[in-house]
Amino acid sequence: MAVLDSLKWRYATKKYDPTRKVAQEHVDKIVEAARLAPTSSGLQQFRVIVITDPEIKKQIVPIASGQEIVADASHLLVFAAWDKYTAERIDGVYDYTTDVRELPKGRFAAYTDRLKNAYLNQSDEENFVHTARQAYIGLGLAIAQAAELQVDTTPMEGFNNAQLDELLDLPAKGLKSVLLLPLGYRDNDNDWLVSMKKVRIPKEEFVIEYK
Ligand SMILES: Cc1cc2nc3c(=O)[nH]c(=O)nc-3n(C[C@H](O)[C@H](O)[C@H](O)COP(=O)(O)O)c2cc1C
Repeated sequence: MAVLDSLKWRYATKKYDPTRKVAQEHVDKIVEAARLAPTSSGLQQFRVIVITDPEIKKQIVPIASGQEIVADASHLLVFAAWDKYTAERIDGVYDYTTDVRELPKGRFAAYTDRLKNAYLNQSDEENFVHTARQAYIGLGLAIAQAAELQVDTTPMEGFNNAQLDELLDLPAKGLKSVLLLPLGYRDNDNDWLVSMKKVRIPKEEFVIEYK
């Protein structure tokens, strides 16, 4: 489907058919779209955790205010971002970049010094706001790729981040959860939202032009 048709087709699915599984090939493409997301300074400050274990999905239901979609969905993606910036993390990405591009190590030293100077002088909390923003870009692209494949998704912020971090042992990975994205197939007969019109403010209101 063309991008706009896919975006019109998709909606934040409220009830998944628990019997239908998303093919691995499609999950791979959805995750790849998130991996290809642009990020601030190219630091790729977020990771995607793919959960299919039914026990873990069930344990996440109460953490997500009882939203059963996380258990019924075929796959549950967790977007998690760096809990903080460190010099090692910044250098790690740029050392990898110079390797991949076959450039001399340190080619971007002046730039990484600027990044370290900006980020390492801020609190971890301030920096997590920035790393978490990058996860939203990945989320958007993953949703669009899923829609193109006619895979349903539900972007979700409605969960207890600290409890999920503990369950998934994210502090040990230097990560904090930002968003959930269940993947699956809509249950046409039982989803109250499936046949409702998509609501968006008119273009004239949405777009502000300076000509
Ligand atoms: C960042 C974000 C968080 C959201 N959190 C939830 C959530 O926790 N539970 C839920 O059912 N829908 C959630 N939604 C879905 C929105 O309510 C939905 O996208 C919005 O009403 C627009 O409708 P549409 O996506 O069906 O077009 C979230 C959406 C976004 C973008």
